[in-house]
Amino acid sequence: MPGKGRSGHGAGRRRRAASGGGRSTGSAGGYQRKDAFYRRAKEEGYRSRAAYKLLEINERYHLIGRGARVLDLGCWPGGWLQVAVSLAGPTGTVVGVDLRETDPLSGAVILTGDVTDGAVIERLRAAAPGGAYDVVIADLSPQLSGVRFRDEARAAELNEIALSVAEALLQPGGSLLMKTFMSGETEGILRRARALFGAVRLTAVEATRKGSAEQYMIAREKRSLGLAQ
Ligand SMILES: C[S@@+](CC[C@H](N)C(=O)[O-])C[C@H]1O[C@@H](n2cnc3c(N)ncnc32)[C@H](O)[C@@H]1O
Repeated sequence: MPGKGRSGHGAGRRRRAASGGGRSTGSAGGYQRKDAFYRRAKEEGYRSRAAYKLLEINERYHLIGRGARVLDLGCWPGGWLQVAVSLAGPTGTVVGVDLRETDPLSGAVILTGDVTDGAVIERLRAAAPGGAYDVVIADLSPQLSGVRFRDEARAAELNEIALSVAEALLQPGGSLLMKTFMSGETEGILRRARALFGAVRLTAVEATRKGSAEQYMIAREKRSLGLAQ
């Protein structure tokens, strides 16, 4: 649960509506990053504006339910972790991992490490009751270089890694939620996802900044063998 958001997300929305969406920025260009979702996250105690993306997606697709075992790849600073802990509830398990050290969060187990490292994957497996997860959520982002093709390739690589982790650690029937950036690589990523999952779709969310190529892939019904091509 976020520090200041214990009264529930609905209450947060009402508070925001009552205050007209938060403080005015005063100038058009200066506060680009501090948009309405950023300010709302501050008000409601979420560690990142990304929390609203997971809330919106879960409201639409019901990926994380009570008691779910959830693995969060690329969890820093922890907005998705906060949402996952509150959705999975006290009977759930939430494990997060990031290259960056993430502040502790009650109800979550957090590792610092690289998801491309096999030893880290084994630690993540060991942290799951029964050795598998019901839902993998992956908001992984590369360090941007500003060179478009390089950044697209790195983002696609992170998508491939998330798919491999899901293949290794999701139980059959499980779900993967993954951020992706629309590019020439998207078709290949979707093809691989469809080989591993029975149902795959892309969706955009309201909290994504305007003009971004960001989409979220929702893949459900992980196949038992993941071998179909
Ligand atoms: C957009 S942030 C995640 C935000 C998070 N979902 C939230 O709600 O607060 C993306 C994260 O992916 C992490 N990341 C990128 N590559 C990684 C890797 N190979 N292993 C672990 N984490 C990685 C970055 O360190 C970064 O913190």
